Amino acid sequence: MSVRRLAPDEVQPSHFSFSPTNKDRVAQWIAKYPAGRQASAVIAALWIGQEQEGWVSKAMIEHVAEILGMPYIRVLEVATFYTMFHLAPAGEYVVQVCTTTPCMLRGSDELVAACKKHIHANPHAVSADGKFSWMEVECLGACVNAPMLQIGSDFYEDLDGPKTEALIEALRRGETPKPGPQNGRHTSEPLGGATTLLDRAAIIRMPSADRDEGHVMDASANLKGEGASGHGAAEPKSPGTTR
Ligand code: FES
Repeated sequence: MSVRRLAPDEVQPSHFSFSPTNKDRVAQWIAKYPAGRQASAVIAALWIGQEQEGWVSKAMIEHVAEILGMPYIRVLEVATFYTMFHLAPAGEYVVQVCTTTPCMLRGSDELVAACKKHIHANPHAVSADGKFSWMEVECLGACVNAPMLQIGSDFYEDLDGPKTEALIEALRRGETPKPGPQNGRHTSEPLGGATTLLDRAAIIRMPSADRDEGHVMDASANLKGEGASGHGAAEPKSPGTTR
C-alpha cells in the first residue's frame, strides 16, 4: 500500500471552483440523497472536480468540504484513500498499466518499459510535452485480454511493448486509436473467431411454429456464414486453436 499525500505547496492552486456546468452536475448528485446526507455525494464531487482540473488539489478538497458541509479531514480521507484520484498534476492522458499477476505473466513489464521510454522514467511524473503520465494499477478486470492498460475510460487490451509504444505515439499525434483488443481479435474471442456456442439452434429457444418451418436451420446457417464475431470465421475448431 503506497502512501498518498497531497502535492507540494508550490504546485497547489490558491483557489478552486466548479465551472457552471459542473456546479450543476454536483447539485444533481447532491439531490440524489436525502436532506442532511449530502456528504454521500463526496466521491462524485471529487470526480467531477478531477475531470475539470485533471487532478485533486487541496483547494478543491476544501471547496468540496464546504459545499457538502463536511470537515476538511473527511474529504481528505476520501481523496487520499481512493487511487482513482490523482493528488498531483497529471498528464492529459493518464496511462494506467495493470501489473497484477495475469497481466504480469502476459508481459506487462513491456508495457511499463514503453511508458518509461515514451512518457517518463518515473510513474506519476508528467511527460515533457505535458500530455502524458503513467502509473501502475491493480487488476482492472480484463485479465482475459491481458496485458492491458486503461486511458481515460477506454481499455486497450492484448498489448505488447511495440503496440504500447505505437498507441502512445498515436495519441501524441492527436489520433484516437480504437479501444479494445489490439491484436485483431473480437472482444475476448480466440483469434480467428469463436470456437464454441456456434449452434444457434442449440442455445436459442425458438417458438415451435418457427421450429416446424425450419427457421432454426436458417438461423444456424446465417450464423455459420457470418461468424459469431462478425469477422467471418465460424467453423468449429478444437479448443486452443488460435487461427
Ligand atoms: S490482471 Fe490485469 S486486468 Fe486483471
